[in-house]
Amino acid sequence: MLSPFSFVSAQLKTSDAKMEAFVNGLMSKMTLDEKIGQLNLVTGGQSVTGSAVNKDIEAKIGKGNIGGIFGVWGTNYIKKAQEIAVNNSRLHIPLIFGLDVIHGHRTIFPIPLGMSATWDMALIQRSARIAATEATGEGINWVFSPMVDIARDPRWGRISEGSGEDPWLGSQIARAMIKGYQGNDMTKSDAVMACVKHFALYGGAEAGREYNTVDMSLIKMYQDYLPPYKAALDAGAGSFMSSFNTINGVPATANRWLLTDLLRKQWGFKGFVVSDYTAVNELSAHGLGDLQTVSALALKAGLDMDMVGEGFLTTLKKSLKEGKVTQAEIDQACRRVLEAKYKLGLFANPYKSISADVEAKAEMTDANRKAARETAEHSFVLLKNKGNILPLKKSGTIALVGPLADNHSEMLGTWVVAGDPRKSVSVIDGIKNVVGNDVNILYARGSNFTDDSLLNERSWFFGMRQIKDKRPAQEMIDEAVETAKKADVVVAVVGESANMSGESSSRSDITIPETQRELLKALAKTGKPVVIVLFNGRPLALTWEDKTFDAILDVWAPGTEAGNAIADVLFGNYNPAGKITATFPRSVGQIPIYYNHKNTGRPFDGKGPAKFKSDYLDISNDPLYPFGYGLSYTSFSYGDVKLSKTNLKGNEKLTATVSVTNAGKVAGEEVVQLYISDPVASISRSVKELKGFKKISLQPGEQKEVSFTITPDDLKFYNTQLKYDWEPGKFVVEIGTNSAETRSASVQWTK
Ligand code: BGC
Repeated sequence: MLSPFSFVSAQLKTSDAKMEAFVNGLMSKMTLDEKIGQLNLVTGGQSVTGSAVNKDIEAKIGKGNIGGIFGVWGTNYIKKAQEIAVNNSRLHIPLIFGLDVIHGHRTIFPIPLGMSATWDMALIQRSARIAATEATGEGINWVFSPMVDIARDPRWGRISEGSGEDPWLGSQIARAMIKGYQGNDMTKSDAVMACVKHFALYGGAEAGREYNTVDMSLIKMYQDYLPPYKAALDAGAGSFMSSFNTINGVPATANRWLLTDLLRKQWGFKGFVVSDYTAVNELSAHGLGDLQTVSALALKAGLDMDMVGEGFLTTLKKSLKEGKVTQAEIDQACRRVLEAKYKLGLFANPYKSISADVEAKAEMTDANRKAARETAEHSFVLLKNKGNILPLKKSGTIALVGPLADNHSEMLGTWVVAGDPRKSVSVIDGIKNVVGNDVNILYARGSNFTDDSLLNERSWFFGMRQIKDKRPAQEMIDEAVETAKKADVVVAVVGESANMSGESSSRSDITIPETQRELLKALAKTGKPVVIVLFNGRPLALTWEDKTFDAILDVWAPGTEAGNAIADVLFGNYNPAGKITATFPRSVGQIPIYYNHKNTGRPFDGKGPAKFKSDYLDISNDPLYPFGYGLSYTSFSYGDVKLSKTNLKGNEKLTATVSVTNAGKVAGEEVVQLYISDPVASISRSVKELKGFKKISLQPGEQKEVSFTITPDDLKFYNTQLKYDWEPGKFVVEIGTNSAETRSASVQWTK
């Protein structure tokens, strides 16, 4: 049946007033049950992250008890469900279909933490665009992405799903993702509505333990944690997801200050807010009351849609009768959900993403795979390369060892819902693809991921577990050592399995699992040069590996094209340029560790006596690898920072320039980073903050002048009154290759 609302198409690109009139008209016909039905988001159950799932979905759709479905894809299911909504429900209101499309849909891109290491907004935006095209081809019109939670604690497994520790870079990435998903016109058949998550501060979980309490000062919130959410909103994000954690003692899902005062009144958000998985029900475990009470609290706080738990569906009517919620509150939430459907063009065409021609786009095309390969290459970070052991020669014999060397399923990383592991390229296959028969490859698995039974048993997601070899550990190590002895160089592909990071995957020990370190120790003893290809969903503590091995290439979890991309970089077809976006600690004891920390009253600069200074007895304050760090097969030399002026006033602009030279023998890319510090202010400020970067490409011997324009906006911060402003005085401009290696110059800036 044709949509009864097809007349809407003529109005789609018109004003909010038209939308309002349309929604008013529709709501005037809706019963209370139908309105509450719009607030109910259920899961079709293909990908679930909780114990609760929904029942009798088809019957509920027919009765108008469901506003949207998530966790299902494929046009068969979605078409059928949409037909029930459009044909059988009384008012024919279409459903919205959501999915966790986190780093690609069919074609899987690197995990978001890896993607952020590209510092390349065009690549990131393109990955979201491709994901949207593929997902809409399977009926999806709403994606639970981007995750923009700032994370400074690598114990937290979900650090893998975000863009690291920096609010400025995180904001750029949030914008790029929103643009990629939503495009300029959400009514298009290949556009999806983004859902910014998890609002808010989820990455601040105490002790890095999943779903744990968050408690932070308002200044820290505003300055360091909230900016990426706001950037996503300003880029036009259509929806937000509330987080599981508490904020100032009140869980986000029932936090009126967060969902209404901040998000809507201060920031002007006009879209809708959905809860996280059963987060409304979980308010009871947080200690806020029974299901009826917490459902009313969530609605009143400003939550519009209830994911999975059906607290809204089963209690709001009663609460209305008892005066615990108002009709206006229910209407408001219902209106926001209907508006989202209107903005997506679903009233005009509920089947806009369910047709043969769009379905074809769900396929992994060659172009999509090519984009995934390019993005993966750009995401890799060369952490160490002593004696330029990399790139490898395209000749001789290589011993390829490690549990990740001949593996398909682990290539994709965490949070992959529709990606097919069988279609991913393993490292061994990638190497063969890239060097053919020029290199003799000897393979030995060498070890399992872990022999720690607890870690092994708990590391799973959507039922997927890492593959275990049943041989005794020593037998596998011996075989790897024998293999290594026959080779010119050893490539050890080790690290975390996909399920050791991601949701519900916090670790208290963030080293490479012991079993694999035993393998590495044995390989080190062979005296052969060893290159570590490291898979990881979080910064790992690699102090021993850094000391022991010549080369470490961090490849995160690279996605569908993993093996090809890794081989391209190992053999120098692409010169790595990625830079880490989350600090790598020396040991877990340094956590939280991040570059934009405060100075303290007793800073320790590493020189002179350490007593009565802010430091540790047993470890230095410095990280192993600082934020923004990453090497190249070439080297770059930086000139001094030249400033257009050293005394500025008011809204004047400052230009800071450095010359960067490729001092090596091969072409390469460099992410030139700009940091600013404000040494004297009314509050204690961070030692420096990222305020810009430029990714440049240089031929051997080539020099480029790289300039940044700095305005007073770059000097602003939140003061004790939470006023966002700058204060006159001295500012230090630093430019460099990472947050710890910079050149600097200072200016005086008066108002
Ligand atoms: C996660 C969300 C996700 C949701 C739906 C939750 O457990 O926290 O990030 O979008 O499940 O799958």
